[in-house]
Amino acid sequence: MGIVRIGLAGCGSVSQRGLLPHLAADDIRPWCELTAVMDVVPGRAQASAEKFGAKLAFEDYDEMLASEIDAVVLASPIGLHYEQAIKAIEAGKHLHLNKTMTTTKAEADDVIAAAEAKGLVVVSSPGNGLHCSNMRIREIVESGELGRVYWAEIGTAGGGHEFESFRTGDDVLANVNPAWYYKRPGGGPMYDMAVYALHRITAILGPVQRVTGMSGIGLERRHFKGEEIIVDMDDNTHLVMEMGKGVFCLLYGSNSASGPRHPFASPFISGSEGSVTANAERIEILGRNVLGHAGTETGRRVEQPDTRIPWVFGVHKEIPERHVYADIMHMVDCALHGKKPVVSAEHARHVIEVIELGYKAAETGITQTCTTTFDIQPWELVHCD
Ligand SMILES: NC(=O)c1ccc[n+]([C@@H]2O[C@H](COP(=O)([O-])OP(=O)(O)OC[C@H]3O[C@@H](n4cnc5c(N)ncnc54)[C@H](O)[C@@H]3O)[C@@H](O)[C@H]2O)c1
Repeated sequence: MGIVRIGLAGCGSVSQRGLLPHLAADDIRPWCELTAVMDVVPGRAQASAEKFGAKLAFEDYDEMLASEIDAVVLASPIGLHYEQAIKAIEAGKHLHLNKTMTTTKAEADDVIAAAEAKGLVVVSSPGNGLHCSNMRIREIVESGELGRVYWAEIGTAGGGHEFESFRTGDDVLANVNPAWYYKRPGGGPMYDMAVYALHRITAILGPVQRVTGMSGIGLERRHFKGEEIIVDMDDNTHLVMEMGKGVFCLLYGSNSASGPRHPFASPFISGSEGSVTANAERIEILGRNVLGHAGTETGRRVEQPDTRIPWVFGVHKEIPERHVYADIMHMVDCALHGKKPVVSAEHARHVIEVIELGYKAAETGITQTCTTTFDIQPWELVHCD
């Protein structure tokens, strides 16, 4: 394969704001090309193809799969990912999936098995657990500087996709109805947002062993451009997870207006000797034996996180949704060079199982035991200077 010819399904918010501008940039031509786009809303794929320079536009997914593409990027509503992923694999296409890959562990098992049987690459976003700043927190925890770590808190809250400024326009590219974010299957802030928190905390503390929690609907009716959206999926979920060895983690995913003091999907981790918090700008370590930068005992150290992300170079640093673009380029890299993805479907499957079992625990009142696991491999810092 000379380059990977990509077909993208779903030309909504993440695609218009981020994925299509990234894939339209000339500097990635040595590795891939945006060959086709597809969307079921009449005219949206055609308008996207014209704006972002794709050769082919489709309103039918099967027709896109039958075209000259080598790989599929799924940016459609989450509830459609499973069926579209299986079809792509059956058609012999490598695959990148936006979060979450599927909505159940059983579906994730199918995707992984089908791709393995065909020798195809599957990369499942988000890869944020492997980003340098998160790996640095893992290193701090493993160094023993915090003593014996025994609890953590992480989560995500955000008002809802009907408030995305992107959706305010009236043309076929911007008038994208987000109602599916509140419907089953695939709606709700766990699959949409808390998935980032789960990838981060499990990349630091390891797989979840048991999960319990409570979940419900905070706001039953929402509105988008005068239309009522009846919320039939939980939008307010709070879990307690045991990460093994008596380490507990509180996790929240809520479509409330905002979250508590530490930012979106940023961890707080605490142990017998100290604690660590992080945001995009800083990692702060507090504790009895925490060494300052000069090697003196100060009780507090602030580190600048390494913000490099593989494949995010040049113009890509300025385009939104850099982390998703990086995951897509990882899929391209693995397909071109026969590499095994480190942004792995196995990690995604574990996170999906935690979400599924969290809902089950909330429904039944019975703590659930996870069965899946995953490996963390370093992500080579290629093309990011
Ligand atoms: N919006 C964000 O901030 C964001 C950020 C990162 C990742 N994501 C992920 O990207 C994916 C898409 O999210 P979004 O916010 O762009 O959604 P969206 O609602 O803005 O867009 C979804 C698009 O998919 C199209 N679609 C519907 N049925 C389809 C089908 N059968 N085949 C192909 N396309 C179909 C819709 O017409 C719409 O254009 C989700 O997995 C989401 O979790 C979203």
